[in-house]
Amino acid sequence: MDNKKIVLSGIRPTGQLHLGNYLGALSNFVKMQNEGLYDSYYFIADLHALTTNPDPKELHTNVRHILAEYLAAGLDPEKSTIFVQSDIPEVSEMYLLLNMHVGIGELMRTAAFKDKARKALGITAPNQGDDDEDVAKEIIGASTNKRVNAGLLTYPTLMAVDILIQRADFVPVGKDQEQHLELTRRFARRFNSFYKTEYFKEPQNFNFGSAPVKVPGLDGSGKMGKSEGNCIYLRDDDKTISKKVMRAVTDNGPQEPNSPRPDVIENLFTFLRIVSTPDTYQYFDEKWNDCTLRYGDLKKQIAADLCAVVAPIREKIEYYSANTELLDQIAREGAEVARESARATLDEVRRIIGFRV
Ligand code: TRP
Repeated sequence: MDNKKIVLSGIRPTGQLHLGNYLGALSNFVKMQNEGLYDSYYFIADLHALTTNPDPKELHTNVRHILAEYLAAGLDPEKSTIFVQSDIPEVSEMYLLLNMHVGIGELMRTAAFKDKARKALGITAPNQGDDDEDVAKEIIGASTNKRVNAGLLTYPTLMAVDILIQRADFVPVGKDQEQHLELTRRFARRFNSFYKTEYFKEPQNFNFGSAPVKVPGLDGSGKMGKSEGNCIYLRDDDKTISKKVMRAVTDNGPQEPNSPRPDVIENLFTFLRIVSTPDTYQYFDEKWNDCTLRYGDLKKQIAADLCAVVAPIREKIEYYSANTELLDQIAREGAEVARESARATLDEVRRIIGFRV
């Protein structure tokens, strides 16, 4: 046993990972892993994926995809515990136990829940049903083909269990998960106070020191996202990447020297900043400023530099994806380690409650 702080994070296997996932999250996981200061746990949240009732075949393919993508990005089973959530049955038992201390009201007020419930019910207008009460009424009155399942409601309990069962100190997650992390701390405190114990500590988000890289979308929107359909995937080949970049939204070009750049153009420059050299950035910046910039040239440059970042990762993804036995072995070995620590926590929780261990 060592005294290293524990870091844990997970990704839901709902599709392939894109450049935003890689630069915003995964590459930081790898950096932290390689610093060697932490005991790290990185997992694939396939139980969470069940909340949106995926096709089972697709789900299992996606789990393998993410596993291959984790490894291709540089997560190393020799340095981190890499595992699949559903391989840890202790999580499910603790989920039941923790749920007894979680209020349905606080779950229903969670932003991610309201968002997903609205989607399940087909409420699309941004303001319609924005009110907690309206959403609640819609859910209760929904016909069976527009169901909001109980797993979706208790998503934060399951996430809290992922974190607490491994006794994580730090949980590197994006802004959209901060509310879930706050709930995790609240549930931990509540459990402690109910059972008059100090067993659970309160996990914190991880601050990378510098702001995480925010990758814009190719459609002029501020953020690359799966649901936005503006992504470069880590599995995209060079041709696909080039095509996507060449299609990116632009305008009529710079009209006056040294004018500010509209958002869609600034996004392209953000790509340059992320994947190109400072010299290249400066070159195009000057071209913009003296109004000689041709967007075709700019896009060709971005496409080439993006390909240089993505291609080596893609090759590794292909290697791991073709090695399903290796993937299964890595998942099995990761699960063994993760189960042992989960078991120890669950035993302690059972003891605290007064159950036989
Ligand atoms: N909810 C997270 C997401 O959608 C995935 C997740 C599940 C997670 N359990 C976790 C992240 C535990 C960090 C820690 O991205």
